[in-house]
Amino acid sequence: MRILLIAGGWSNERDVSISGGKAIAAALRANGHEVHWFDPAQEFAELPTKARQSDFVFINLHGAPGEDGLIQAMLDRLGCPYQGSGPAGSLLALDKTATKTLYAQAGLATPAWELVTSCREENWQPALRFPLFIKPNQGGSSLGVQRVYSQKELHPQLSQQLQFSSAVLLEEAVTGKEVTCAVVGEQALPLVLIEPGDEAAFFDYHSKYTPEAAREICPAPLSETLTAAIQKAALEAHRILGLTGYSRTDFILANGTAFALETNTLPGMTPTSLLPQAAAARGQDFNGLLEELIQLGLK
Ligand code: DAL
Ligand code: MG
Repeated sequence: MRILLIAGGWSNERDVSISGGKAIAAALRANGHEVHWFDPAQEFAELPTKARQSDFVFINLHGAPGEDGLIQAMLDRLGCPYQGSGPAGSLLALDKTATKTLYAQAGLATPAWELVTSCREENWQPALRFPLFIKPNQGGSSLGVQRVYSQKELHPQLSQQLQFSSAVLLEEAVTGKEVTCAVVGEQALPLVLIEPGDEAAFFDYHSKYTPEAAREICPAPLSETLTAAIQKAALEAHRILGLTGYSRTDFILANGTAFALETNTLPGMTPTSLLPQAAAARGQDFNGLLEELIQLGLK
């Protein structure tokens, strides 16, 4: 097939997208496809022409704009098949607050949160327990994520974040191990348990993309009951957000409860990323995973 691989883009996860894109390009070529790299940051206006000349579009953009459904909406209009979710599910899942609202409605545990969209008075206090995470409401790879321990730290951090994001999520920091569960097709994959590096306070950008910086164990050494509960929650998250093809839901495990944090519609595909590890644990190599995603996208 002639495949247009969309990678790069202009979000702050550009480097992650390019790193995954290189791995995808190599694997798709090894699978016998003709691959054309397309970077929206360089040639956005050319997308309709380039997409129409292709049999399939593989999107590997992260963050907004890119993972927000814009490209997917354009491809739908052009009638070009692509892997993964459509515009509505993509936009919904990229919005952390909207996602957590749906989790809560579906009965999935998620840490308590508050959304802040404008600067608050210095004595303003959220109705949440410290420590808190401050996160851009739409963002990925932990970029811009800060942990704050006290009211004193909160205000300057919040003001700073609001300069970069119009909406900031405050979320109670649940202490526990991170575990992630990917869904491909209708199936939940083996879980990955993450132990951030010694220096890292959480699974931050450095731990995510530096080889050996974090220890990732797949399949996660958890009981069958807990594993099944987390897989069920990931499938439920995928369903309630209206996603198709694949997704990866991230959780924090504390006292036997898995708190859902977010669902990624274009999970990272770099050499250290989690979805490829989960696929490998079920005996599927990277090339096989890509072929399955393409087949699901063609359905
Ligand atoms: N946002 C990054 C790429 C991930 O979720 O894997
Ligand atoms: Mg994410």
